[in-house]
Amino acid sequence: MSDVRAYRAGLVHCLDDPRSAGPDACVHHPDGLLLIENGHVAACGDWNALSPTLAADVPVEHLPGQILTPGFVDAHVHFPQLDMIASFSGQLLDWLESHTFPAERAFADRAHADDAARAFLDELLRNGTTTAMVFGSVHRTSVDALFEAALARDMRLIAGKALMDRGPDGLRDSVDQGRDETEALIADWSRHGRLGYAVTPRYALSSSPEQLTAAGEILARHDHVWMQTHLAENPREVALVAEAFPDARDYLDVYDRFGLVTDRSVFAHCVHMTDRALHRMAGCGAAIAHCPTSNLFLGSGLFDLARADAHGVSFGLGTDVGAGVSFSVLRTAAAACDVAQMKASPLNPLRAFYLATLGGARALGLADRIGSFQTGREADFVALDPAATPLLARRLRGVTDIAEILFALMVLGDDRVISRTWLAGAVAHRRN
Ligand code: GUN
Ligand code: ZN
Repeated sequence: MSDVRAYRAGLVHCLDDPRSAGPDACVHHPDGLLLIENGHVAACGDWNALSPTLAADVPVEHLPGQILTPGFVDAHVHFPQLDMIASFSGQLLDWLESHTFPAERAFADRAHADDAARAFLDELLRNGTTTAMVFGSVHRTSVDALFEAALARDMRLIAGKALMDRGPDGLRDSVDQGRDETEALIADWSRHGRLGYAVTPRYALSSSPEQLTAAGEILARHDHVWMQTHLAENPREVALVAEAFPDARDYLDVYDRFGLVTDRSVFAHCVHMTDRALHRMAGCGAAIAHCPTSNLFLGSGLFDLARADAHGVSFGLGTDVGAGVSFSVLRTAAAACDVAQMKASPLNPLRAFYLATLGGARALGLADRIGSFQTGREADFVALDPAATPLLARRLRGVTDIAEILFALMVLGDDRVISRTWLAGAVAHRRN
């Protein structure tokens, strides 16, 4: 028996990147109908045009004033950093030592990881994030806990155990342990439900050449797994990588030499990049997770969106919690607009919304499954409430332009504007 239900509300989604396809790439139905059948989008359009075609027994929920959008995609976030978000320190390497590594050590304990996994997924859903690419800690148990919790919610999630045989005390694996645990996690979880695995060398300073070799071999062995890591985030980090790998042409080249630069690879940050590296990424279809709140918080630098565009590199948005200061991809999109302003190459609101949805899905190679309301896509979506706060209600009184509405929701909104989140057609979060 099929499960069919319809929603009447405002609808907005992107079919393409507004930068190349123009503003019509984003489709807005002020009074729309979204039809969901067995967890997938069956139809999306104007209420007046589509409602006469609805069978009489299809339940219709009317959400007046609300706007339905595809769920948000967080292309880079750290599960074991949930409890240390908003910890004050210096830049990246100090912050890792003083706050991050101590917090991650606790994830050797399965009960701690289970509790954190539930809270982490709750937080994603409260913020309208329905898909994320997630770093675990070095402990495989952290990823077991996260996958188990995500599978129970039927969430589309990609994650991996951090590989770090050059990590600090208490957070080191070995080449063999990292390889064996990664293979075991792939066997146990990848493609179960909507779960995916990402081979996860933490960054070039945390893995030996032998471990990076093993990571590349695992990636080559499994055509359904991804690769995630950090790249060119902080000037001191970039200098240390150049010292540690003197033969590499640049930071990306370190990964490239081990077979880690592919169309299934997602590199967080990419703030301090050579033209050669950007050209290489575009050529092989590797993607960037742009993490603006993190880059501001750690003083890492300002991502050059215009340069990434000039080279044709695909990018999505990452919250990068706990260096990022918000789980909200809406807030992250607003920060991306701020950073673009600082680089004098403005990011317009429709494109920022695209990056939060279809652009993120494209960066993760998932645009045929999620990121829009095209027929057949998985029904991961959110209801935004443009009157969620008194200030938003005042600002948006009488406003009908969707770009203006979305921009205000990004700048003034956060988890409070997410009134409901659906995973595969089922309600997974309801505010109030
Ligand atoms: N580089 C290596 N590890 C990390 C991390 O946990 N967060 C960030 N932002 N950068 C990193
Ligand atoms: Zn990160």
